[in-house]
Amino acid sequence: MQLILIGFMGSGKTSVSQLIGQKLDVPVLDLDQVIVEQAGKTIPEIFADDGEAGFREIEHRALESVSDFDGILATGGGTPLRADNRELIKNTDALVIKLQADASVINDRLKNQSGRPLGDGLNTSSIEAMQEKRDKFYDDCMDMVIDTDELTVEEIADKIIRIMAGQDERRKISWG
Ligand code: S3P
Repeated sequence: MQLILIGFMGSGKTSVSQLIGQKLDVPVLDLDQVIVEQAGKTIPEIFADDGEAGFREIEHRALESVSDFDGILATGGGTPLRADNRELIKNTDALVIKLQADASVINDRLKNQSGRPLGDGLNTSSIEAMQEKRDKFYDDCMDMVIDTDELTVEEIADKIIRIMAGQDERRKISWG
């Protein structure tokens, strides 16, 4: 795997990964999409039928199934919550970047989008509380964080591409 994007719902993982994939001509997978394809139902349907615990099992199996994927992976906001998922993420050779966005920015985005069972009915302070609970899990498996509040999707993508190129250089040097 070349790159894994992690971060809270609405932090831009999907749009940033798509743009980087286009710019680098590298395949992109969205874990939520993989889950929907493997389960044959939408994420709200999975939550309704199997609850969050059932969703997390399906999510874990989906992550396992793509761990050898050679491209860019956008995870779900809750993927790093499970220790076994964090291990899977850490055991790839991918650069793992967390996209960080302010709770008020996330709140505006979530209000305009649907299809997130855990995103319904949140407000800026409940998002902040959830971010605080989740941060230690994100921190545990990330290589670096990008603060996206002042950046466009294009600027974030370009920044990550520069970081990936620098990493490649360092790898070449250390490999001689
Ligand atoms: C979730 C985030 C969602 C999706 C599911 C659960 C979470 O992905 O996996 O609704 O627990 O934060 P996005 O981060 O792509 O919205």
